Amino acid sequence: RPAPAQPLRLIVLILFLATRANTSPVLSTGCPDRCVCDDQLVVQCAGQHLTTFPVNLPLATRQLIISNNRIVELPPLALNYLSDLVYLDCSNNSLTEISESTFGNLRKLAYLDLSFNTLTRIEDRTFGPLTSLVMLRMTDNPGLSEIHPDAFVENTALQVLDVGRNNLTVLNITSLIALPALRSVGLSGNPWSCECDNEDLCLWVHLEGFKFQGFNLFYSNVIPAWRFLMLSYQIKVGFRELIT
Ligand SMILES: *[C@@H]1O[C@H](CO)[C@@H](O)[C@H](O)[C@H]1NC(C)=O
Ligand SMILES: *[C@@H]1O[C@H](CO)[C@@H](O)[C@H](O)[C@H]1NC(C)=O
Ligand SMILES: *[C@@H]1O[C@H](CO)[C@@H](O)[C@H](O)[C@H]1NC(C)=O
Repeated sequence: RPAPAQPLRLIVLILFLATRANTSPVLSTGCPDRCVCDDQLVVQCAGQHLTTFPVNLPLATRQLIISNNRIVELPPLALNYLSDLVYLDCSNNSLTEISESTFGNLRKLAYLDLSFNTLTRIEDRTFGPLTSLVMLRMTDNPGLSEIHPDAFVENTALQVLDVGRNNLTVLNITSLIALPALRSVGLSGNPWSCECDNEDLCLWVHLEGFKFQGFNLFYSNVIPAWRFLMLSYQIKVGFRELIT
């Protein structure tokens, strides 16, 4: 009677595959220690005294909240398995560096919060892969003094950018003006300097001040009138494109 042998072999095969799946970090269906996972694919790990990025995250995670911990690094390999991620809150951790590969595969990410960390600079390719990013909050990094001029150039879906309460003295707005969906930029609480190469930021914000709540203007030199008119024109042209 060979008949029962087939189903049995099949069951053995299924068990074998299931065991393998459970031990594979890539095909994880579990939930990380000290986190709560729900059936809406939300993983909540806020305020759990974590010092490292959680392991054993469900592959299909859509929202990941790791705020209020002491995580020092976002490991690119682990993070980029989560290709369905749309919401990532990393605020209030100890992140010092975001590399070019950190967000390499997060093409659906719409919300990113990096506020209350210890970042010092943002490189040019850092946010490049985030083509669906709508809101980026990056406030309250007390040592953040440098954002590359092209840092946001590929974030064409970006609507809200908040870089308030950092240590920025300059911000090159050339690529910001060109972003088609941008409607709000938070700039308050930075030690802006309005000298030489930063004039266009000051003028832009001054002319369109209603859009930029909380920007404090400190002129440290007088801008020549011809330069003011020229910059105003460029800025208005930039904004007309932005609004239409
Ligand atoms: C940051 O997280 C700690 C707990 O890890 C909490 O005590 C503190 O209030 C949080 N700070 C902010 C600004 O949310
Ligand atoms: C802010 O930047 C200035 C230089 O522009 C530097 O001297 C200062 O230490 C920075 N502040 C912090 C908290 O890193
Ligand atoms: C701003 O950035 C653009 C693009 O990288 C560059 O061409 C321009 O010279 C920069 N402006 C200033 C004032 O540094």
